[in-house]
Amino acid sequence: MKYEKHIFICNNQRDENAPRVSCGETTGNEIAARFKELIQEHKLRMRVRAQRTSCFDICEKGPIMVVYPEGVFYGGVNLEDVEDIFEQHILNNRPVERLRLHFEKR
Ligand code: FES
Repeated sequence: MKYEKHIFICNNQRDENAPRVSCGETTGNEIAARFKELIQEHKLRMRVRAQRTSCFDICEKGPIMVVYPEGVFYGGVNLEDVEDIFEQHILNNRPVERLRLHFEKR
């Protein structure tokens, strides 16, 4: 794997009349920008990558993001949560349980 941590942040944006909300309409873009800043500040560009992505189809729980290689999904992420996720999960491998989404196994 190229990166030790790979962060995908939904920034899907539907038009304003769409029946579902979308992460890009709320804070998805700002969340991605803040992760990128933190990666720069910590000089981790070769080891950690944050990038915007499209819909994970769990829009109502958004804003949504996921961290690999663990495959930990976070929902309802606000801009104020980014530093917590960065500090706890990205730097110290401890997922932030209060924001973590769990899915039933199929
Ligand atoms: S718009 Fe973000 S999960 Fe669907």
